[in-house]
Amino acid sequence: MSLFVAKGMVKRFGALLATDHVSFEVAPGQIHALIGPNGAGKSTLVNLVSGLLAADEGSLVLDGADITHLAPHQRVRAGLSRCFQVTSVFRDQTVGDNLLLAVQAHAGSSFRFLARRDGEADLRSQAQALAQRVGLLTEWARPAGTLPHGAQRKLDVALAIAARPKLLLLDEPMAGMGPVESAEMVTLVRQLREDMAILLIEHDMDAVFQLADRISVLVYGRVLTSGAAAEIKADARVQEVYLGSEADAMEAA
Ligand SMILES: Nc1ncnc2c1ncn2[C@@H]1O[C@H](COP(=O)(O)OP(=O)(O)OP(=O)(O)O)[C@@H](O)[C@H]1O
Ligand SMILES: [Mg+2]
Repeated sequence: MSLFVAKGMVKRFGALLATDHVSFEVAPGQIHALIGPNGAGKSTLVNLVSGLLAADEGSLVLDGADITHLAPHQRVRAGLSRCFQVTSVFRDQTVGDNLLLAVQAHAGSSFRFLARRDGEADLRSQAQALAQRVGLLTEWARPAGTLPHGAQRKLDVALAIAARPKLLLLDEPMAGMGPVESAEMVTLVRQLREDMAILLIEHDMDAVFQLADRISVLVYGRVLTSGAAAEIKADARVQEVYLGSEADAMEAA
């Protein structure tokens, strides 16, 4: 049984078919990577999944529930979170306050039944657990805007997982990172898989092949091929797309 099923997704920008009948599935506990050259339609697809963009055709099912027509915040409630690449971080607020706000926002009805004192202590321990999880507990009192880039991305991940998603969307989590920060993000993402499935978009192929269980390759808005990470790595067409000329890529698609 798949946790997440995208079927026949279509998105047009005027005459451009940015997403051309894309289907893929994510199994529970798996990291599914979407790869493909610039302009292949990866971000468009993630925006269709998160609900930032409305699809022209297709359906999305998460854990048995049809989320095709839900607004982004309703999809979060249904179990789908995405990282927003630092824009969701309040830069003037401390790491701790950012996390407390996120935990509070997702505490929902259960919070209301607790006495005020217990509720606050519970939120605080949840926020601290999140900080611990992404390795930012020592930065708790620091204004988020003063963190180095890699640590801000970790905070962004912590804010996304505060919603306790079933599926987490990560659009280029390693972007702009040096080798040390990238390696730390790989470790973090691998740990997250224990609790949630992940849809990963990433240009860093080393990171993709370290992390992904399955990979779908997008080219010109279409799925060129989809399979286990090892199969994709060995696929001659995929190597052409990444190593060959534009013309080769067109032919392969
Ligand atoms: N809002 C938009 N309006 C018009 N065209 C768009 C829009 N967003 C994306 N496109 C086009 O759709 C195609 C797919 O773009 P998209 O950003 O999804 O690709 P991508 O695979 O994420 O690329 P990259 O690797 O560079 O991030 C491109 O041709 C792009 O120019
Ligand atoms: Mg993109």
